[in-house]
Amino acid sequence: MAQKNRAWWQSGVIYQIYPRSYMDSNNDGIGDLKGITSRLDYLQELGIDAIWLSPFYPSPMADFGYDISDYCNVDPLFGTLADFDEMVAAAHARGIRVVVDYVPNHTSDQHPWFQESRRSRQNPKRDWYVWRDPKANGDPPNNWISVFGGPAWEYDEATGQYYLHSFLSQQPDLNWRNPEVKKTMLEVLRFWLDRGVDGFRIDVAHFIMKDPELRDNPLQPPSDEPNWKPMGEYDRLIHLHDRGHPDVHGVFREIRALLNAYSTERPRYSVGEIHVFDWDDWASYYGRNLDELHMPFNFGLVNIDWKAPAIRKMVEGVEGALSRLHPEAWSNYVLGNHDEHRIASRVGPEQARMAMLLLLSLRGTPTLYYGDELGMLDGDIPADKEKDPWGLRQPGLGLGRDPERTPMQWDASVNGGFTAPEVEPWLPVSPNTSEISVAAQRGNPRSMLNLSKALLTMRRSTPALNQGTYTSVEGVPPECFAFIRQAGDQKRLVLTNFTSLDLRISLPNLGQGNLLISSYLDRAGRVDLAAFHLRENEGCIIELL
Ligand code: NOJ
Ligand code: CA
Repeated sequence: MAQKNRAWWQSGVIYQIYPRSYMDSNNDGIGDLKGITSRLDYLQELGIDAIWLSPFYPSPMADFGYDISDYCNVDPLFGTLADFDEMVAAAHARGIRVVVDYVPNHTSDQHPWFQESRRSRQNPKRDWYVWRDPKANGDPPNNWISVFGGPAWEYDEATGQYYLHSFLSQQPDLNWRNPEVKKTMLEVLRFWLDRGVDGFRIDVAHFIMKDPELRDNPLQPPSDEPNWKPMGEYDRLIHLHDRGHPDVHGVFREIRALLNAYSTERPRYSVGEIHVFDWDDWASYYGRNLDELHMPFNFGLVNIDWKAPAIRKMVEGVEGALSRLHPEAWSNYVLGNHDEHRIASRVGPEQARMAMLLLLSLRGTPTLYYGDELGMLDGDIPADKEKDPWGLRQPGLGLGRDPERTPMQWDASVNGGFTAPEVEPWLPVSPNTSEISVAAQRGNPRSMLNLSKALLTMRRSTPALNQGTYTSVEGVPPECFAFIRQAGDQKRLVLTNFTSLDLRISLPNLGQGNLLISSYLDRAGRVDLAAFHLRENEGCIIELL
C-alpha cells in the first residue's frame, strides 16, 4: 500500500513538561524556562520530537497557571519572554518542536478583562464573560456544577449578577459567542505563532461553546457502569449543556484555518483536551474533512480496566471511528498527564515497562508525561504540603493532583537535582531517586530509561511503527493483546502481556520472526511464532519475516 509521508505531529513523539516541576534554574524551589532550556540535551538524547509545556503565563496560580492574567507574557516565576525565545531557539536547534498550552475557556479573575467586566453591567467588557441575573429566589441562573465541585456560578454583590466559572471561581469563563472575545483570543494564537511555537495544546477545548440558552443539565440517573473517573459532585449531572455545543466545530475550523495559514513554512499543530469516550463523537473533533483540531487527545489508555480485552476493545473502537471518519485520520495515545495518577502507580512498575512499549508501538502520536520514561511514581504528599485546589476542595475522593506533579528526578542528591539541596521544592521530591532518576538509570543497560530510549529510537527509525497501519491479531490467550503494524513490506508484530502469568503464544501462520526488543531488554533474535513464550509483564516487538 502506498504510504503517505506523515507530518512531525503524526510520526513524532511529544513530551509533556509541567514547568513548575521540571528543573529549577534559580533555586527558588519552582521549575522555570531556563531550567527547561538546560535540559534540552537530555531530551534530545532521549529521542522525543516535541515538547508541550503546561502554562507558564502570568497567573495568580489559583490553579497553578490554568488561571491566566496575561496571555501574552511569561510569569516572573518562570522567567521572561526573552527566556522563552531562548528556549524555543535552543529547542529548534536540536530539532525539537515546541507546543504551548492555550487556555481559551477561562481567564483568571485577576485578568484585566474580567476586572473591567465586573466593574458594571454597562462595561464594554461585561459581555466578554457569562453574566446572568439570579433566579427570582436568588439562586444561581441554572443547575450547572463546577468541575472542581460546588455551583458553577459566583454571585457578585457589586453588580447583583452571577458569573459562570466551569472551574474555580477564580477562573471565570470567557464568552466565546462574543465576536470580540473570539477575535482577541485568536490573536493570542498569532502572538505565540509569531514567536515561533509549533503548536498548541488546547485546555478543555470543547468547553468554550455552551448551550446559548444556558439550560439546566439533566440529572445523572444512578448507574452501575464504572465511571471514567469519579469526580464527586460533578457526576450528579449529565453534562449536556455546559460543554461541547455543536457550535464549537465552527470555532475549531477557524483555529485550523489560522494554523494552516501559518503552516506553509512548517506544519503547526493543535491538540484539544477533550474527555469524550464515545469514539465517533470524539473523532468528530478532527472535523469531517480533517479541518478542525489536528487531534483531540485520546484518553482511552487512562483510567481503563488494565486488561488485554478492554485495551483491545478500546483500540479497535478508536480505529473503527477514525476509519469511518476519514481515510487519513490519525490516532494518538497518552498514558497520563498532570491531571492523572502516574501510570507506574496505576498499573505497577512491572506493567509500566510494558505500557511504555504499548504506547510507543500503537498507531497514533504518543504523548509522554515527563518522568514516565523513568517509571516515576506518584509522590506521597503529606496533608500539610497539599497544594492542588481540586483535592483541597473535595477531600477524601483522591482527586488531588499533587502526587503526579512532583519534581522530575534527575539524580540521587537531596532534592533529586531538581533544585539546590538547601531549598524546599514546591512539592516534595520522591525519596526513591537512588533507583528512579536519570543518573541512576543512565548507566544501567536494562533500566526503564534505556527501555524508553530504545523504544523511541526504534519507533523513529521504523515506518511500520511511526506511520504504518494497525491490525488486531486473533488466536492469542486472553491475557495478551497482539497487533501488527505495517508499512509497505515492513511488518512488526507487537505482543503485550497484561498479567504476571507466563503465556504460550502459538501463531503458526506468522512463521518465523526476529525479536527486536523485549520490555526486559534482555533478549533478541530469531523466534518461532508457532511456539513463543511471552513472560510475565512482558511486551515484545517482533519483525515478521
Ligand atoms: C484541564 C487542565 O489539564 C487542568 O490541569 C486544569 O485544572 C483545568 N483544565 C482547568 O483549566
Ligand atoms: Ca525557579
